[in-house]
Amino acid sequence: MLGRTLRGRYEIIKFLGTGFSETYLALDKDLPGKPYCIVKQLKPQLSDPFLLQTATRLFETEAQVLYKLGNHDQIPRLSAHFQENGEFYLVQEFINGDILSEGIIPGKQWSEEKVINFLQDILKILEFVHQQSIIHRDIKPSNIIRRTSDGKLVLIDFGAVKEKISTLKPNSQGETVPIGTPGYVPSEQAIGNPEFNSDIYALGITAIQALTGILPKQLPKNPETHEVVWRNLVQVKPQLADILDKMVRYDSRKRYQSVNEVSQALSSLVTKKKLKKWRNTKIALVLVLVALVPCIVVLVPEIRDKIFASSHNDSSLTKTPFLTYDSSNYFMIRMKYPKSWKIQKIEDRFTGDVAKFFLPQNNSSNSFQPELSVEMQDLQKPILLPDYTNSKVNEITQYSTSPRIHESHPAKLANLPAHEVIYTGKQEQFNIKRMAVWTVKDSKAYIVTYTAEESQYDTFLETAQAMMNSLKIRESASTSPK
Ligand SMILES: Nc1ncnc2c1ncn2[C@@H]1O[C@H](COP(=O)(O)OP(=O)(O)O)[C@@H](O)[C@H]1O
Ligand SMILES: [Mg+2]
Repeated sequence: MLGRTLRGRYEIIKFLGTGFSETYLALDKDLPGKPYCIVKQLKPQLSDPFLLQTATRLFETEAQVLYKLGNHDQIPRLSAHFQENGEFYLVQEFINGDILSEGIIPGKQWSEEKVINFLQDILKILEFVHQQSIIHRDIKPSNIIRRTSDGKLVLIDFGAVKEKISTLKPNSQGETVPIGTPGYVPSEQAIGNPEFNSDIYALGITAIQALTGILPKQLPKNPETHEVVWRNLVQVKPQLADILDKMVRYDSRKRYQSVNEVSQALSSLVTKKKLKKWRNTKIALVLVLVALVPCIVVLVPEIRDKIFASSHNDSSLTKTPFLTYDSSNYFMIRMKYPKSWKIQKIEDRFTGDVAKFFLPQNNSSNSFQPELSVEMQDLQKPILLPDYTNSKVNEITQYSTSPRIHESHPAKLANLPAHEVIYTGKQEQFNIKRMAVWTVKDSKAYIVTYTAEESQYDTFLETAQAMMNSLKIRESASTSPK
């Protein structure tokens, strides 16, 4: 095969592996720059014309399925399928990355957090696969690639095509050849009846392998119940161990029945963990604030005057004249705000808080003051807006109390492409609604957030939007030294 060019287009340059099919690295000579692609050669080796015909039909059907699966960002795209000299070929997108079998090393143990992230990432792909009525049948580290460009996991090697063709060819004992890899295959699949949760079993075994650093075939099994015995091999929180145990139950009926069930179990585990962490951070923050606020109030004359001298006049917002706030040269921010709103200049280089604006409420204590805050985060290195958006949305869903995202779409801020998210959640005893808009420029992120009690959100939305629209990042922000 090496050196051959298939269809005058795919030049085979390297042999990658063999299983039911042979896998090669190739160059796609029809595309500019001749990018790599993967060519898989399926060898039915059928001399009987009837069987060959059946194989062809199944190959066609399954290729259609693979085309559909390739629509998922974490599954390689199938770019062509064809027959040449009685052999079947699939051509697929080459994924540049590291194969997970090289990352799960015998004797080395992954942390619980890493395992949970791994599971969540793969479960999302599996959910999609199962929705297309496909069982992967061969989930294991060597069929998972961590993509270099974004660190995401990519699932490869879909057994479906191979199985349909290979089952046509009895082996020497007259049995059909089972798909899958010993150690990862649950009993029902081993006898030819794979179910959707056979994939959940294989994934659970992979996770146990990563946690314990022990190869699946070497994991002890209870001779009576056939269950995998692993909990005593490694220190792991009982909640996570319970989830893994339920993924790998011997009897498929006792396992999780769907990917969704596993995801839910995991996410409740993660939320509990995050909440605990967040609670501790919150306590620390409150303590710092309690200590700092009196100092700021007393020491900064501007704030002192504003706080003590202001009267509450919040009527007819639209008619209120706007004032201009100009930050220090470090933050380089200019924004307009209604005269009736109070400003709190923070300009803290450490936290990135620049300023907060609020509308004082008459019945102050038991209502939430609508507020708009401006932040600037120095990210230290350039980042693309979509990447920043991902991390931000993640932060919103993980760190707010019962968050619900209502809108998430591109927007503009300071004349730059930006992203806007509107969500509701709980803050203290209040049901709050928040609009956060952010943009990135020269390794810095600028975030403006409008927050109000849900019932008041619409009332001040226009004012908040006017303030956001007035935001300017003064020039030379990028070049100014720290
Ligand atoms: N789309 C791909 N991108 C990059 N490498 C791949 C891709 N598909 C397969 N490989 C590499 O080739 C190896 C064998 O391919 P695979 O599809 O798993 O077939 P099999 O396990 O049946 O030999 C993989 O373990 C991986 O290293
Ligand atoms: Mg493989």
